[in-house]
Amino acid sequence: NVPKIKLNDGKEIPAVGLGTWQSKPEEVVNAVAHAIKAGYRHLDCAWGYGNEKDVGEGIRQSGVSRSELFITSKLWGTWHSRVEECLDQTLANLGTDYLDLYLIHWPVPLNPKGNHPVFPLLPDGKRDVDHAWKLADTWKQMEDVLKKGKVRSIGVSNFSQAKLEEILTTAEITPVVNQLELHVYNPQHKLLEFMKSKNITPQAYSPLGSSNSPLLADADVVSIVEQHKLQPADVLLGYLLAKGIIVLPKSVTPARITANLAGAVRGSETLTKADIERLDGLAAAGKQKRSCLLLPVTLPIAHFCSIG
Ligand code: A2P
Repeated sequence: NVPKIKLNDGKEIPAVGLGTWQSKPEEVVNAVAHAIKAGYRHLDCAWGYGNEKDVGEGIRQSGVSRSELFITSKLWGTWHSRVEECLDQTLANLGTDYLDLYLIHWPVPLNPKGNHPVFPLLPDGKRDVDHAWKLADTWKQMEDVLKKGKVRSIGVSNFSQAKLEEILTTAEITPVVNQLELHVYNPQHKLLEFMKSKNITPQAYSPLGSSNSPLLADADVVSIVEQHKLQPADVLLGYLLAKGIIVLPKSVTPARITANLAGAVRGSETLTKADIERLDGLAAAGKQKRSCLLLPVTLPIAHFCSIG
């Protein structure tokens, strides 16, 4: 039984969801269908992942009805001034007429008329940011699609404290979540403290440290694994879950998809206060640091990471 977390708008969200970033279209159909059959009820998607149609196919193949699922997607940077249009594409891709949760993917509006529909770049190779567009106006459009009933909750992703404050000054509705890269080597303690003060729930993407992760073999993680007879993923996911953070582990491997759901819950129930304090300290003083800036991803995502 996967626990649920109550959001600041009163809605409930399953605390474990399947991540789909970096899942290849040909792999994600089976991954999603398998996950839902294995008991997942929460799927984390994005227009920018380029695989939403395949996620939609996986949902259909699972045979589980839409009303039983919690589906999140995200507004891509080139669409900040056209929220409803991007959302409509996402809804068509996924084959649904509403989302449970819609997020601003990055707090960086990109030029909608740039040299590329997804990653527009300037001649000098820097990201082509739409400096004239105000983030607060993107949030206003997010509020509008919520009021129209096309989405049930709205939130943000990859927002620093400064970016959250930027929209909160004019927001009518507070974001329910801020989805961040969160794991033992990138715990973002200060930002989480600020979010707690605003009742904004954290969601963790790359909770295992993403592909080729060194976290699974970290000496402290392995020592806790041995102490409790858990798997490394159980410790990494359980650590976040025990702290009230929604976890979105990505996998396209059926055995891992199944294991991560039960493992996250088992980990959160097994880890002691001392284990959590030990894991909290792993990234202290820059001893261990890892973030998407350093990941060997094929997308030019590093352009978006310096969000300050
Ligand atoms: P794969 O998708 O090939 O199964 P994150 O959620 O931090 O982004 O991590 C995703 C990466 O971790 C993927 O490379 C995924 O591989 C791998 N992974 C997912 N679950 C596990 C697990 N239980 N044990 C080891 N590696 C895993």
